[in-house]
Amino acid sequence: MKIEVPVEEAYRLINPGCLVLVTSAYRDRYNVMAAAWQTPLSKRPPLVGIAIAAQHFTAELIAASEEFALNIPGADLLKQVVRCGKVSGREKDKFKAAGLTPVGAKKVRAPLIAECLGHLECGVVDRYKTGDHYFFVGEVLAASADKDLFIERWGESAEMIHHLGGNWFYLSGRRAEVKE
Ligand SMILES: Cc1cc2nc3c(=O)[nH]c(=O)nc-3n(C[C@H](O)[C@H](O)[C@H](O)COP(=O)(O)O)c2cc1C
Repeated sequence: MKIEVPVEEAYRLINPGCLVLVTSAYRDRYNVMAAAWQTPLSKRPPLVGIAIAAQHFTAELIAASEEFALNIPGADLLKQVVRCGKVSGREKDKFKAAGLTPVGAKKVRAPLIAECLGHLECGVVDRYKTGDHYFFVGEVLAASADKDLFIERWGESAEMIHHLGGNWFYLSGRRAEVKE
């Protein structure tokens, strides 16, 4: 069960620097890939950025559709994440291969992933070539999150994935509040 998240606070879904599954769609093709390089960029308007290697199928679909979605996987999806980061959707339906369920989004044609903890639906407002990657700037058009794990921010039991490089990851856990 997901709750709606105000788009101005959608950045809090990815503020912890978690790994995301980027979904995209154009015409009859849709795809999912793992991405560690994501960042919030602005609160008003709500903007986020992702760096996607120019040769990836995802870059092609986002450039053509000018839309994408960021899906936040929990630690239980670690194996599926690696699978989505090792093969290209040009050759394989990665949703099927990884056992992920595509569901309709509210504002974009890119599917959301039912098993993920949260989602940001984005329309591309800028695109830059940064070395061998494209940096896509997306305006968050809608966002949603697991109603038990996200109440204004992620709760302690939200265990997300953080990429260290290669096949190594941190899983988030402990939270701390600073009283001023
Ligand atoms: C943990 C992990 C994180 C990754 N992060 C990124 C990233 O931030 N940007 C990127 O372009 N590729 C990244 N990749 C590589 C792509 O996910 C991978 O090349 C994928 O197969 C591209 O799929 P596509 O051709 O279907 O778009 C990552 C891979 C893994 C396993």
